[in-house]
Amino acid sequence: MHIPGGGGKAILFENIDGSDIPVLINAFGSKRRMAMALGVEDAEEIAGDIQELIEIKPPANLLEKIKFLPKLFEISHYPPKIITGSAPCQEVVLTGDDIDLFKFPILKCWPLDGGRFITLPVVFTKSLKACGEQSESNRKRNVGMYRMQVYDKKTTGMHWHIHKDGAAHYDEYRKAGKRMEIAVAIGTDPVVTYSATAPLPYGVDELLFAGMIRKKGVELVKCKTIDMEAPATAEIVLEGYVETDEFREEGPFGDHTGYYSLKGDYPVFHITAITHRKNPIYFTTIVGKPPMEDCYMGKATERIFLPMLKALNPEIVDIDLPWEGVFHNCVIVSMRKRYPMHAKKLMDFFWGSGQMSFSKMILLVDEEINVHDYREAALNLLNNVDIESGVR
Ligand SMILES: Cc1cc2nc3c(=O)[nH]c(=O)nc-3n(C[C@H](O)[C@H](O)[C@H](O)COP(=O)(O)O)c2cc1C
Repeated sequence: MHIPGGGGKAILFENIDGSDIPVLINAFGSKRRMAMALGVEDAEEIAGDIQELIEIKPPANLLEKIKFLPKLFEISHYPPKIITGSAPCQEVVLTGDDIDLFKFPILKCWPLDGGRFITLPVVFTKSLKACGEQSESNRKRNVGMYRMQVYDKKTTGMHWHIHKDGAAHYDEYRKAGKRMEIAVAIGTDPVVTYSATAPLPYGVDELLFAGMIRKKGVELVKCKTIDMEAPATAEIVLEGYVETDEFREEGPFGDHTGYYSLKGDYPVFHITAITHRKNPIYFTTIVGKPPMEDCYMGKATERIFLPMLKALNPEIVDIDLPWEGVFHNCVIVSMRKRYPMHAKKLMDFFWGSGQMSFSKMILLVDEEINVHDYREAALNLLNNVDIESGVR
């Protein structure tokens, strides 16, 4: 895999002006640290595990059933579990007038940013619909990462793009005219933080995905002021809600593209409690012109999700999302072409699939081309593309 640049060091700032809380930044910012965050030597190992799960065939006889038992036992440990009793993330509980976001070292990242932004928030929402048994406590969960601009001591913006899963939950509440409770964890097990950014299909629980990577279920604890759960080992948890008829201007914000995202109206998150460890660490990142820390998260996603793309389209050989395309903006795919317009069929798949549908450019090359070698891919592409028909 071609990964330019080293990514620099992870930095823990301990002497912060205006806050007693240390700041951790660039924790995910190298190929090695990204792998460490996922508990592997290389993200390809997780792709291998997923491939194995995809290929599992139901055992046909008693011997195969017995052989399958250890795997079944392992998988049974992946789902998240709610613990009772004390949790590290609730060693300190702040409510009412004690809630003050300005006590936390939340960064203003770029000169023209609209304010300070929480940039690594792990945002927990729940659907209004029950899954499985019809019970309130069994509602489908989503975990996403959506930046949060600090407005004052107790409120922030909630910048989910309209096509994201958190926003889909929000639409349910808006239609029902109900207040939406939300928990936000900052500084979780890195697998959980990564999973919040992963482009899983709607309805697939990111915590189950995190449990599969870690091979251990994520421990959750009931929140203090809302009917939600949050990761028990998080450094900091913000509990609160958004009203579905309240919006406030958010941005500008120096974004992943290297340009500022413009101002826009977004829901307002009201905090009902801040809980945290006795000595919490504030996890953050700065996004900007690539390469930045998030590029390493994106490269892990590229590798981890390849087996799922291949399962749906066996003609896919490999894929590369160049950093310069801020990931989904440019997708290079090598494929086994079998029939005329086959490339178009694959393009239509990408443009119709989850966050891949945001791609501006899909470049398809022959199976023998190394998609991670951009010169080789460009040579193949530029010399063979038929601009008239748009298809090779
Ligand atoms: C550092 C970082 C910041 C992000 N900020 C936002 C954001 O402000 N809004 C947004 O919609 N997506 C943002 N994303 C992308 C989402 O987290 C990503 O698309 C995720 O898959 C969304 O989850 P969902 O599909 O469950 O909604 C960010 C990703 C990273 C790595």
